[in-house]
Amino acid sequence: MSTVSNSSNIFWHEYPVSKVDRQKLLNQQGCIVWITGLSGSGKSTLACSLGRQLHSRGKLSYVLDGDNLRHGLNKNLGFSPEDRAENIRRVGEVAKLFADSGLICIASLISPYRKDRDGCRELLPENFIEVFLNMPLELCERRDPKGLYKLARAGKIKGFTGIDDPYEPPLKCEIEIELEGKGGHCPTPNEMAGQVVSYLEDRGYLEAPSASSQR
Ligand code: ADX
Repeated sequence: MSTVSNSSNIFWHEYPVSKVDRQKLLNQQGCIVWITGLSGSGKSTLACSLGRQLHSRGKLSYVLDGDNLRHGLNKNLGFSPEDRAENIRRVGEVAKLFADSGLICIASLISPYRKDRDGCRELLPENFIEVFLNMPLELCERRDPKGLYKLARAGKIKGFTGIDDPYEPPLKCEIEIELEGKGGHCPTPNEMAGQVVSYLEDRGYLEAPSASSQR
């Protein structure tokens, strides 16, 4: 008998086409690019540019967007710490499946709590690329693309990240994107995406696995 958390009598089936087979077919290596940052920091914009750049190079990616997933898979979840934890856990598990399929899975969520992000990293430690979009709160609030900061300041939304709910920055992430130079110039979406693409390229994710690869 096999027991996994609340389920009993369940078994793991192996399938004949392996992850390496799929990666060879796609000529790339599956991974999770996890974009974290405040609301309005540009996560979706980066995810969009990254997806486009990869697509134009013939690489298959898929975006898991926090807002979009809350319309379906996660529509029963709110913004309490427990619900955010469950939101992140589900997306982490889905992202792991996408990566196993051989895709470059781009997850774009505030994911404000370090523990929840680290839990996702543990699901796929070798192939988890955390991208911290480190934009100052003042900038995000000035942009306020959905008008939510305004509502949060007015007390009409409670527990809004950055206002009356915490954002815990990564202590160690693979890529950090910040304002540049003295004037605090914001890199363009294409520049930000280029930084991630270079990282993926340097580490071999944009080519088929070698015979000795463990990925
Ligand atoms: S997360 O915290 O659980 O990772 P997620 O990325 O899925 O959040 O969703 C964040 C989006 O929900 C924000 O971009 C914003 O549009 C919306 N939102 C609504 N209420 C809140 C809130 N209290 N805190 C943060 N974002 C919120």
